[in-house]
Amino acid sequence: MRFVTRSGEETELLGEYLFCRLTRKYRTFLLYGEMGSGKTTFVRGFVRAAGYDGVRSPTFTMVTVYPTPLGRIHHVDLYRLQGEEDFYTLGLLDVLDREIVVIEWAERLPLRVEGVRLNFSVVGGNEREVSVSLL
Ligand SMILES: Nc1ncnc2c1ncn2[C@@H]1O[C@H](COP(=O)(O)OP(=O)(O)O)[C@@H](O)[C@H]1O
Ligand SMILES: [Mg+2]
Repeated sequence: MRFVTRSGEETELLGEYLFCRLTRKYRTFLLYGEMGSGKTTFVRGFVRAAGYDGVRSPTFTMVTVYPTPLGRIHHVDLYRLQGEEDFYTLGLLDVLDREIVVIEWAERLPLRVEGVRLNFSVVGGNEREVSVSLL
């Protein structure tokens, strides 16, 4: 699937839509794409669809857990990941496949993780392309 959005609001709506469409079947979401391509904006809509409002860019922590009415959502940002050991201290392996995990900067994962892949790219100005590959 491929989508083009023309504002941050549209990318949030895409996040809401894909939450509703995909989380019955999939738990792990891998987000790829440069800084500013809309990953966090997408996650804001995605988590809002679960009934939790207030996703921000996780600046200092690599994992933020949102207690939503539909269960916990783990929001991960690997931008500052230093190395493999750093990754294992995050404790994600314990929740992968059991709870919903959304990973920004999935390029930096030190091991193979199965999940829905979402590639974000800046088309120009306020346009973003999001391509989604299911397992
Ligand atoms: N179509 C769009 N989709 C998402 N964000 C957009 C769009 N157009 C402009 N923006 C802006 O681009 C920025 C995206 O930032 P963010 O979601 O934090 O990106 P990332 O997490 O990939 O670094 C925000 O400032 C947002 O307002
Ligand atoms: Mg981000």
